[in-house]
Amino acid sequence: MKGLILSGGKGSRLYPLTYSNAKQLIPVANKPVLFRVIETIRDAGITEIGIVVGDTAAKIKEAVGRGGRWDVNITYIEQDQPLGLAHAVKISQDFLGDDRFVMFLGDNVIEGGISPLIAQFANGQWNSQIVLTRIEHPEQYGVAELGDNGRIIRLIEKPKNPPSDLALVGIYMFDPNIFRAVNAISPSWRGELEITDAIQWLVDNQFVVHPYIHRGWWIDTGAPGDMLEANDLVLEEIDYEVEGYVDRDSQVGRRVTVQRGAEIINSVVRGPSIIGENTRIVNSYVGPFTSIGHDCLIENSEIEHSMVLENSQIKDIGTRIQESLIGRNVVISRSPIKPKALKLTVADHSQIGIL
Ligand code: TTP
Repeated sequence: MKGLILSGGKGSRLYPLTYSNAKQLIPVANKPVLFRVIETIRDAGITEIGIVVGDTAAKIKEAVGRGGRWDVNITYIEQDQPLGLAHAVKISQDFLGDDRFVMFLGDNVIEGGISPLIAQFANGQWNSQIVLTRIEHPEQYGVAELGDNGRIIRLIEKPKNPPSDLALVGIYMFDPNIFRAVNAISPSWRGELEITDAIQWLVDNQFVVHPYIHRGWWIDTGAPGDMLEANDLVLEEIDYEVEGYVDRDSQVGRRVTVQRGAEIINSVVRGPSIIGENTRIVNSYVGPFTSIGHDCLIENSEIEHSMVLENSQIKDIGTRIQESLIGRNVVISRSPIKPKALKLTVADHSQIGIL
């Protein structure tokens, strides 16, 4: 069995963060979402993984390399334009050959424990297995309608009137019959080859597509609020470890990870939280559900329920920062220069909330 990860796409809902980076490389609890996906596939016993890349190919290749870090072999498959998930399958046929495979969206985060389900499909008889979960706003996703016997009747992409609350999670398993399906379908009204149409083709042509209903959490990290939510959920799940230095004047909660080389000086850190490698937290408060990336400085400031990516600095900010997603190499500091005013250098599409 092989793995296929889709890491193309534009990531426009995460501008400006995705102007300078691929959205799949944004870290959740200090580890890129894409790395979490690779680990889930590796944990299912799969060592051959293809990654579909688009405009951000160079960034992804630089971060992931050939996969040695995970004991897997990575093959990159270039997609000229994001023409749909089924299009990504189509262009990956040479890599996938006659193997059964699992396909993951590279920007989805799912509760741990899904790897055995994937391993099980490797030796099974089904032509396909899709993962569904009950969600509140199914109209934004691919939705499945199941019959009384639990079989799939219909799949619809982003329906105005959803026939059920069962959305397709970004994990799909296929045998080579999927290539017949992706070659048989036509682009949708939005010009994409839809994976839902390809799966519907399998169902209509009497192939066995098994729906698995996942009961844990699942987040599609398309927008900033989703990123923070994924960060909350992963922080609750990870093992906590203090490898860095905590001075005697600091209070660090039980569910706090302090990574190698980090220093907590005269500060309070409440968990679940993570403080990245070589980061310094000085005279500050870091509240629950916060990830501070590597090589950051938080000094004389308060922050909670937020994510700060690597190499950023927050200094002397008297107002508590909350629900914020702060990119890489950002400096937020108090300026002593008169007049008393906000002094901002803000990228396109940034959002700032001021008291
Ligand atoms: P989406 O979130 O649907 O698309 P996007 O990345 O373009 O995001 P936005 O709407 O914010 O612009 O894509 C889901 C995942 O699949 C994501 O990891 C990108 C990937 N993808 C491909 O690799 N090829 C494609 O043709 C498409 C549509 C998506």
